[in-house]
Amino acid sequence: MAEICAHIMDVAANSITAEAKKVDIFITQDKNQVMLTVKVIDDGKGMTREMSEKVQDPFFSTKTGRKVGLGIPLLKGTAEHCGGDFYLKSKIGEGTEIFASFALNHPDLPPLGNLRDTILVMIISNPGVNFSFSYTINGKEFTLDTEEIKAQLGDVPINHPEVIKFLGQYLDENL
Ligand SMILES: Nc1ncnc2c1ncn2[C@@H]1O[C@H](COP(=O)(O)OP(=O)(O)OP(=O)(O)O)[C@@H](O)[C@H]1O
Ligand SMILES: [Mg+2]
Repeated sequence: MAEICAHIMDVAANSITAEAKKVDIFITQDKNQVMLTVKVIDDGKGMTREMSEKVQDPFFSTKTGRKVGLGIPLLKGTAEHCGGDFYLKSKIGEGTEIFASFALNHPDLPPLGNLRDTILVMIISNPGVNFSFSYTINGKEFTLDTEEIKAQLGDVPINHPEVIKFLGQYLDENL
């Protein structure tokens, strides 16, 4: 995939498909500028241990004839190719945690991409899901929690045009 944000979008889409009501996304560039890490935690339906292992295997679908996508194997492959690590922890009925890291100096590291639009699209297209975003770079953390925002909005939906405008401005000023 051309950008890290596309991977994040894909992992979050998996969480939504798994009926998550809360998705926490952490993106961190460590202080000494060595690694970029991405962690996504959801409270969706989770996977068995067997399933968790199978979905990481890019050849799983050909072996069994079952259709399983490539989102997870692609992310795992990119992380491992770029000097990083990958893990997936999941529990049925509890949720899933996905972690990927990348060496910032690796020549094949994809660009981060447009984090602002990625966050905005996720929020707007899934108004019923609560997202929390944490982006840390150079020791400075940006956070956005839609549960907090919704509490302040009262009856106004989070994808109301005026709210979208506000969120866009907030991201532009703080990200
Ligand atoms: N967060 C999650 N919670 C529960 N199941 C998940 C989660 N993420 C992935 N899965 C399971 O793993 C499978 C593989 O995910 P993956 O992203 O690799 O492919 P996909 O979503 O099926 O297709 P695509 O190639 O479009 O991403 C999913 O179909 C789903 O069954
Ligand atoms: Mg997917």
